[in-house]
Amino acid sequence: MSIVININKNIFLLQMKSTCYAFGVDDKGLLRHLYWGERIESCEDFDMPHIDEVSTNDPPAEITREEFAVYGGLRYKEYCLKAAFYDGTREVVYRYCGYEIAEGENCDELIITLKDIHYELIIKLHYKVYADYDLMERSVEVENLSDKTIEIERLHSAQFHIPHEGLNFTNVHGHWGAEQQKFTQKLSYGKVIIENRRGISTHNHNPYFILDRNASENSGDVYFGALRMSGNFSGIAEQTPYGETLVQLGINSHDFMLKLTPGEIFAAPPVICGYTCDGFESMSHRLHHFALDTIMRKGLRPVLYNSWEATGFAVNCDEQMKLAQKAKEIGAELFVLDDGWFGERDGIDNGLGDWYVNSKKFPNGLNELVDKVKSLGMLFGIWVEPEMVNPKSQLYKNHPDWIYHFDTRESDTSRGQYVLNMTKTEVQTFVYEMLDDLLSKYNIDYIKWDANRPISQTSPQKDIWYKHIDAIYSIAAKLKKKHKNVLFEACASGGGRIDYGILGIFDDFWTSDNTDAYDRLFIQDSYSYVYPIKAMRSWVTDCPNFISQRNIPLKFRYHSAMMGSLGIGCNILKFTEDDTALSKEMIAFYKQIRPIVQEGDFYRLSGAGTSDYFVYEYLKGGEGLVFVFLPQSKVGHRGTTVRLRGLCKKSIYTLETDGGEITKSGDYLMNRGIDLRLEGDYASTVIKLKRNN
Ligand code: GLA
Repeated sequence: MSIVININKNIFLLQMKSTCYAFGVDDKGLLRHLYWGERIESCEDFDMPHIDEVSTNDPPAEITREEFAVYGGLRYKEYCLKAAFYDGTREVVYRYCGYEIAEGENCDELIITLKDIHYELIIKLHYKVYADYDLMERSVEVENLSDKTIEIERLHSAQFHIPHEGLNFTNVHGHWGAEQQKFTQKLSYGKVIIENRRGISTHNHNPYFILDRNASENSGDVYFGALRMSGNFSGIAEQTPYGETLVQLGINSHDFMLKLTPGEIFAAPPVICGYTCDGFESMSHRLHHFALDTIMRKGLRPVLYNSWEATGFAVNCDEQMKLAQKAKEIGAELFVLDDGWFGERDGIDNGLGDWYVNSKKFPNGLNELVDKVKSLGMLFGIWVEPEMVNPKSQLYKNHPDWIYHFDTRESDTSRGQYVLNMTKTEVQTFVYEMLDDLLSKYNIDYIKWDANRPISQTSPQKDIWYKHIDAIYSIAAKLKKKHKNVLFEACASGGGRIDYGILGIFDDFWTSDNTDAYDRLFIQDSYSYVYPIKAMRSWVTDCPNFISQRNIPLKFRYHSAMMGSLGIGCNILKFTEDDTALSKEMIAFYKQIRPIVQEGDFYRLSGAGTSDYFVYEYLKGGEGLVFVFLPQSKVGHRGTTVRLRGLCKKSIYTLETDGGEITKSGDYLMNRGIDLRLEGDYASTVIKLKRNN
């Protein structure tokens, strides 16, 4: 059992493989945080510190490390819960009521119950302890047992206390075509806030926190947490005046208010969190293993061909069939027909919402293409954007009230489209039935579910920011239950909706519309800190790249895309013989190494931008890969020495390099390392390694 309780002292110790987390209940019934760090065996060693007032301007609640801070009393710091009761009272005063222990899948769960001393508001704090993964999952549930509505104005899922100052805070910034731009900044006094207010997209920041104390890839303290929710989130990191750093993560309270009706229970999204003293690599490994084993759909992802960059909206059956033929020839396993196949869709301004097959583009129906793809032995996939509608569509004409709007205002379009009010039951039914129908009528194996704009002019209810995404999750889950073999890809103008929430709902994730192989190295590098490699769909596309206008050799483009789940988005009908031959070779090679790439341990040996060479290692069982990129040669064509990681010291490994085979011991490869030298711009290679004993 990973939950140890000292009943006399009311102290709870959550034990994981190498770390632990402790908190307790004080004599006033307040939950107090005690410890988060390396494993301490004895629960008996922990004591409840006394709260002393430092001065009248430093009230105890400000200084005390509260496990779950609520709004009320002499508290001016960040809080997790703010509730307003029917009589105008706007503070929560809780007392500890007891605990329960539950056994979950792969975890033990501790549930702490708190109750307001006057109102019938129950707060349950959940701690799932994934001991083997060295991770916890924290969440909170509020329940209204009264006969009147309680307004929840803020509900952050968890608060963490880190007993250090001067930490580094890492997250990503970005925008369309430039997702996952990692930044690190020193925390000082004051707050850092990352958030999303757009409802559907996270191109800008991502719902996680990473805090470190001068950590490197394989050394140093790292505290981290990732929210299991898409949509409006906020994360706050604050270095307090009292010698610690406080972090919170949860639903964004911006424009949020949940009316908790009598009898209603609301569960806030969980935060997966952990601590390691072994640097970023161990953080990534823990999250990757956890996601692969417990969150994501099992199985390797197919090599896909997607026709979007080749044909845009100008889809026609004959050309798609030719593309499918060629895609098969080079080795693709899945053919995805992107935007433009439905309604009167010929650009961004029309057709969305009218999900019938366009008869001009498919005069003999969609099955002509589906059958062709199937006859080639490939899977068939199709693009949809179910949450959206163009003003120029039959759906909008029939249901103008289905979009998010205020009655006296005109809603804004973006990319020529409105957002459907997914909180309405009739809209949910429409979206579910449309997709169910599509999947039932055609032999479809893969749905690319897009969402190309943020939400605006929401309905008067302030809980839509949460309920919108909840509806999407439910529809996708229901469809997957009925159409068990269908893979669902989440896309939102590229990687606008990637997070630990959607990771368990969808199966494949479009990382970015930016397919420039050099830019992608940076995007992929940041992505790998938190997200598993299998969740990173990467395409090879044509040059000059449509965003960067850069020309990069096809081999480098393949190697860059082969770092994730490989896809091809080129106009393959324009391929030269050399392009075709290289594509065949690369795709065949990828199929061989795919289990190592998609399910192996990932090491950033020389991360993007840290030196001229970008070097990454993957290891699975006794097999491994080293991807080496030299985007630009510098004076003297310098080489680099790379020390591998994660090998067995005493084992002997054979490395297959461009220059021939090398056989060395694990400790040689990890300490002395190998010398690498590539030449020219956009040079790249992949080295295979195998353990011999
Ligand atoms: C978004 C996606 C692209 C493509 C287009 C289609 O931009 O990110 O991959 O599907 O929509 O309109």
